[in-house]
Amino acid sequence: MRNKIYLNDNWKFSKIFDEKMLEKKFDASNMENVRLPHSVVEMSFHYFDENIYQMISAYRRVLVPEESWKGKHVFMTVGAAAHQSTVFVNGKEVYSHNCGYTAYTVDLAKHLFWGQENVIVIRVDSRECLNQPPFGNVIDYMTYGGIYREIYLEIRESSYIKDVFPKVTKIFDDGRIVLVSEVETEQAEGCVLKQELYDAKKNLLVSFEEGKLNHTLKNAKLWDVENPTLYYLRTILKKKDACVLDERWDRIGLRMVEFKSDGFYLNRKKLKLRGLNRHQSYPYVGYAMPESMQRYDAEILKKELGLNAVRTSHYPQSHHFLNACDELGLLVFTEIPGWQYLGDKEWKDQAVQNTRDMILQYRNHPSIFLWGVRINESMDDDELYKRTNDIAHRLDGTRPTSGVRFTQKSSLLEDVYAYNDFSHDGTNEGTKKKSEVTPDNKKGYLISEYGGHMFPTKSYDAEDHRVEHMQRHAKVLDGYYQQEDVAGGFGWCMVDYNTHKDFGSGDRICYHGVLDMFRNPKLAASVYASQKEARDENDVVLEISSAMDIGEHPACIAKDVYAITNADSVKVYKNDKFIREYTKENSPYKHLPHGPILVDDFIGDLMEQGEGFSHAKAEDVKKILLAANKFGLANLPMHIWALAAKCMVFRGMKMSDAVSLYNKYVGNWGGNFTAYRFEAIKDGKAAKVVERQAVTSVQLECKVSHLELRERDTYDVAAIQVKAVDGRGMVLPFYQEPLFMEVTGPIEVIGPSYIALRGGMGGTYIKTTGKNGLASVRIYGENVPEKTIEFQAFAKEK
Ligand code: GAL
Repeated sequence: MRNKIYLNDNWKFSKIFDEKMLEKKFDASNMENVRLPHSVVEMSFHYFDENIYQMISAYRRVLVPEESWKGKHVFMTVGAAAHQSTVFVNGKEVYSHNCGYTAYTVDLAKHLFWGQENVIVIRVDSRECLNQPPFGNVIDYMTYGGIYREIYLEIRESSYIKDVFPKVTKIFDDGRIVLVSEVETEQAEGCVLKQELYDAKKNLLVSFEEGKLNHTLKNAKLWDVENPTLYYLRTILKKKDACVLDERWDRIGLRMVEFKSDGFYLNRKKLKLRGLNRHQSYPYVGYAMPESMQRYDAEILKKELGLNAVRTSHYPQSHHFLNACDELGLLVFTEIPGWQYLGDKEWKDQAVQNTRDMILQYRNHPSIFLWGVRINESMDDDELYKRTNDIAHRLDGTRPTSGVRFTQKSSLLEDVYAYNDFSHDGTNEGTKKKSEVTPDNKKGYLISEYGGHMFPTKSYDAEDHRVEHMQRHAKVLDGYYQQEDVAGGFGWCMVDYNTHKDFGSGDRICYHGVLDMFRNPKLAASVYASQKEARDENDVVLEISSAMDIGEHPACIAKDVYAITNADSVKVYKNDKFIREYTKENSPYKHLPHGPILVDDFIGDLMEQGEGFSHAKAEDVKKILLAANKFGLANLPMHIWALAAKCMVFRGMKMSDAVSLYNKYVGNWGGNFTAYRFEAIKDGKAAKVVERQAVTSVQLECKVSHLELRERDTYDVAAIQVKAVDGRGMVLPFYQEPLFMEVTGPIEVIGPSYIALRGGMGGTYIKTTGKNGLASVRIYGENVPEKTIEFQAFAKEK
């Protein structure tokens, strides 16, 4: 069995590289003890300078090779080191790698001494002046520094399987699937290959004929976004006399992807892609987060936000993230590193190398459906992009290529035109038409970004701003759902992110996420979440866009209220009296599966009941009051004034009547609290209820990614997301108070031991320390009931 031996522990780190560290006799006791993934520096939440992570640092580790490795290959794979690595073994430089986003593998065997300590040093250059992608000009994201993914060893015989690329080449109408493997071997003369198919739990399903790499599967299940069925393909390299030299397990999904002029097809069925862009960064540690946090992001995208796709902007991301996408059925558009800038020949050669590395390292993830082989938003360069397209097509004939542009009708060497459509400004159409943008209508077309800098939104912005953020996302989604020939879209972006001085709000953050940096949802997130079909009441989403506090709006003029839901209908009650039931017919977003519903009547029949008005009179007065609420007296439309005149002349009403009715039925001043209740109705039952009442207390609500922390290949991290809510679960967007944390047991907090809630939301991360035991985090502040979360930490099994 080909086990991975992880080398994530016992590294010594220094922010300054010194050649003396290469020597065996070097006293490393002054270097810092670190574990991988690692960031060269811990940053603050915002307002930090990007220069703090730029340095030439050193990672040093001692390795004592096992006797059994003698005469074999000792492959060391470094998952990712930002941004340029040089590997030294026992003082000798043996390898260098010029990309911070792809892995590299070095055969250590011939440099190792047996029966003694060997010194491995990795010099990591994280300066942004490097002549390699994405560097050379400005970049709208921080690039960080350090060995931020895992390192592992694989020991192999001199004859071994170098690579296996299983691909589905045909799906017949009767369900048969043709699976063909490309297998690359080393020193395999006189050997034979054999393959076996297993289910996801590794039960053997079929043992294929020796030497055959081309199989027709009869009863296999396809991989898709609803049922992402996975299999394992075991490939064995044997001597003719049956002795096994090497074996390899590849987890595979059986599916075919295709773009046509009218959209995207998965297994020959059309599917609208609904996605967001993801940066791989986190507060404090930048890129350095282990498996559980990478997986958590994929789960949020699929389960919370109901998406079927993600773009890993602007570089290949963690295999842990991709593995989770494979398991969850989340399609991935992944691309080579870079941002707008194209450099000299050496730089471009590296971009070509990155294309090659990306495809070879990621092509066995069934979730990946599209390769981005242009530098994000770069100008045309046919010479370069002919090379990247050729490599991509040669190494992977099963997936189309694309490349993201901000220009229309640019030179299209790829199979799919991907365009950042930032045309929506809040007043116009959501998207451009495909024919306006692409130079070749016969090829596929998708919208790779929208939103983002067009409307930065903080979780503590005024309500009207947060609502407009939601509306803009809804409008663009509605725009691309309307157009049959747009394959889909990827909003900018999933999460707020730290960025360079040239971008963002001046505090080194781009507030472009539908989630904040701790992955807490802003209102816009609910537009995505509510597009998912609710299979049962647990899947029902209901958000109400307003806190129903009139004083939050300029001149007390409330904006439209939306019920964002995937339920069958929404019933609205005021002070327990039924007002009205709304369905998706009441949404201005007509093309979405579940457009946000406009709730424009909070009076219903209350005036008929309360004032004894006739139905006609009550309706007239209601129109006047609702208009006054929406436009203010100064801007009342003419027809409303006419209606007011009618009420005065024919219905004997006075201006003072209007004022008191307004206060009673709209302004809700004085008296008891006005209680609003919104019920999301699914299959005739109230599946979810949202209530709005005057806030009388603040509570803390904590959501934790997982309570059992388990060290496997390295340390584990759990996310704690914290919200200040009222007694009914409504987030209090203007609660910005500090909270403190007290930790017991074998865990550590990443970042400061206190947090500020921003927009009523915040978070922290805790990390294991290599020890077993119970642990707890107590979160407390002024005038809020404290919360204690209990964890159990499991150290690595020896
Ligand atoms: C795009 C770019 C993204 C991000 C976004 C902000 O032009 O590709 O990386 O900067 O703008 O809206």
